[in-house]
Amino acid sequence: MLLDAQRIVKNFGGLTAVNRVTLQVDAGQIVGLIGPNGAGKTTFLNSVAGTYKPSAGTVHFLGKETTGAVAEVMCRKGLSRTFQIPRPFPKLTALENVMVGAVFGANHASKTPARKRAEEALEFVEFPMDIHAPAERLNAVQLKRLDLARALACGPKLMFLDELASGLTPGELDVMMALILRIRDTFGVGMIVVEHIMKVITGICERVLVIQYGTPIAQGTSKEVMQDPKVIEAYLGEEVVT
Ligand SMILES: Nc1ncnc2c1ncn2[C@@H]1O[C@H](COP(=O)(O)OP(=O)(O)OP(=O)(O)O)[C@@H](O)[C@H]1O
Ligand SMILES: [Mg+2]
Repeated sequence: MLLDAQRIVKNFGGLTAVNRVTLQVDAGQIVGLIGPNGAGKTTFLNSVAGTYKPSAGTVHFLGKETTGAVAEVMCRKGLSRTFQIPRPFPKLTALENVMVGAVFGANHASKTPARKRAEEALEFVEFPMDIHAPAERLNAVQLKRLDLARALACGPKLMFLDELASGLTPGELDVMMALILRIRDTFGVGMIVVEHIMKVITGICERVLVIQYGTPIAQGTSKEVMQDPKVIEAYLGEEVVT
């Protein structure tokens, strides 16, 4: 098993943003994490990936306990992620931004191999722009693609993708889903995919966990959770399931 996160809790003052969430991911497996706005999806990822220390619960990554390990350590071990709102270095070029991933990720490459890995990652994600353009010139969708290339250049065994598909047109969605599957198949990585677009969840996730107010309310295949009355009431609404 790649990741075993058990009963993760994250409190912010009096608010329990994540309340005993357990999630496991195997190599090559894509697990969906869904729920309404503010449900705690991003906070859960942050509590496992080292942005936050969980208030309670345990994390094992690659068979070793990593509870509370900081993001830099988790990245070196092979956990890389994209961000709901990407924040690249604006003055660096797209290539240089991705090189940062190659230098500081599990590959920890020096400058020349890092450049090669960054070029390969940008090519793999079919980055649609000039790779020598500064990141500040990229639009939101292009920035998400850049963020994916950076995460890939880290050399991950496990990836967290946080709303990577938001803002895409239906045609672009299909391209993105195919790309995510290609990353999984080529590199054998496991993934947690946070997404509001159900087409993406049903299209690529073999298992889905649904949370509401930080608390798990359903788990199963995408078909199973989409038919669960609790999920329909909390998140999907009647009209989605006909
Ligand atoms: N750093 C923080 N300090 C205090 N409260 C926070 C912090 N980060 C998140 N929260 C709160 O925790 C709850 C969960 O937020 P989170 O961003 O994890 O939700 P989400 O499921 O990712 O939502 P969305 O679908 O809108 O991205 C929200 O009530 C949010 O306001
Ligand atoms: Mg979020």
